[in-house]
Amino acid sequence: MSDTAFDPRDFRRALSQFPTGVTVITTLDAEGNPVGVTASSFNSVSIEPALVLWSIDKGAHSLSAFENAKYFAVNVLGRDQVTTSNNFASRGEDKFANASYSEGLGGVPVLDDYAAQFECKTWAVYEGGDHLILVGEVAKYRYADTVEPLVFARGSYAISSQHPEMINKPSGDSGTQIEGDFVKDYLLYLLRAGYQRFSANLYPKLQQECDVSPEEWRILARMANNPTQKISDLSAMVMQPEVALRETADWMVEKGMVVYADPQTLQVTDKGAELALSLQNLALREEAALLSHLSDEQTADLKSTLQSLLEKLD
Ligand SMILES: Cc1cc2nc3c(=O)[nH]c(=O)nc-3n(C[C@H](O)[C@H](O)[C@H](O)COP(=O)(O)O)c2cc1C
Repeated sequence: MSDTAFDPRDFRRALSQFPTGVTVITTLDAEGNPVGVTASSFNSVSIEPALVLWSIDKGAHSLSAFENAKYFAVNVLGRDQVTTSNNFASRGEDKFANASYSEGLGGVPVLDDYAAQFECKTWAVYEGGDHLILVGEVAKYRYADTVEPLVFARGSYAISSQHPEMINKPSGDSGTQIEGDFVKDYLLYLLRAGYQRFSANLYPKLQQECDVSPEEWRILARMANNPTQKISDLSAMVMQPEVALRETADWMVEKGMVVYADPQTLQVTDKGAELALSLQNLALREEAALLSHLSDEQTADLKSTLQSLLEKLD
């Protein structure tokens, strides 16, 4: 027994500050049926021999299939595979009904779409508290350089992008200078740098002034005009898998922002609605400060130009 007694939910929250990729790990069960589970615990272990690991919850339906499997495959998901991640994070149903896949090493199903794929022979299975740690020896691998990987951080799906300081800091090096001149006038850079700097300024203020995390703000913003929302609909809107969304919702219930109308439905409270309004006002004040050097006409032009760009891109 450990002498620490952490609150499991708070401990999970601390762990979720470490961003990971998202994988679907696949194998066959004893009857030869395809089995798959969404996992973010995947990691590299060794280069020679080529070893990787992941861990499976002892409460998972597919535990015995993986514990006894001779082979398994790690499918690293790309940014467009949120639905696949949510599908393999569900329990019970036939998760392969909507998946397109073929047979890999040992007959193990391998997904047709991936950012990277590792076909493994089970190398060792270790005890790991309430999880089992599965180590695989990689027999084959492939990757798609053009597919951006899906990221999971703080319970939300995300995408990785270059750190803004990579391109913001001029240096004496002439190569960087050329890049600097190019990006200063490049639309994608301007849009991204503008968004990143604005949000880097706004999100800490939401936390400091209203004690609301970005995840909670995204939920409240959606509920301000629709006070009752199904968890499944919210999950798609705020890019949190249901299991993580429920955890965020539990914190919000504790803070008095929302209540469960029933186990599948969230309802905003008067306190939550008031908070949503203060948050919107805070966001509007920040926007006004950012645009204060522009005339009303310039602001309107800027917004309608951006809106027409978005329509064109859709
Ligand atoms: C992003 C994400 C990452 C997850 N990572 C893991 C993991 O590393 N290990 C695990 O056992 N479950 C993980 N889960 C939960 C399982 O996918 C989920 O419990 C699933 O229902 C298990 O399937 P099964 O019960 O059919 O075996 C994760 C879920 C999500 C959404």
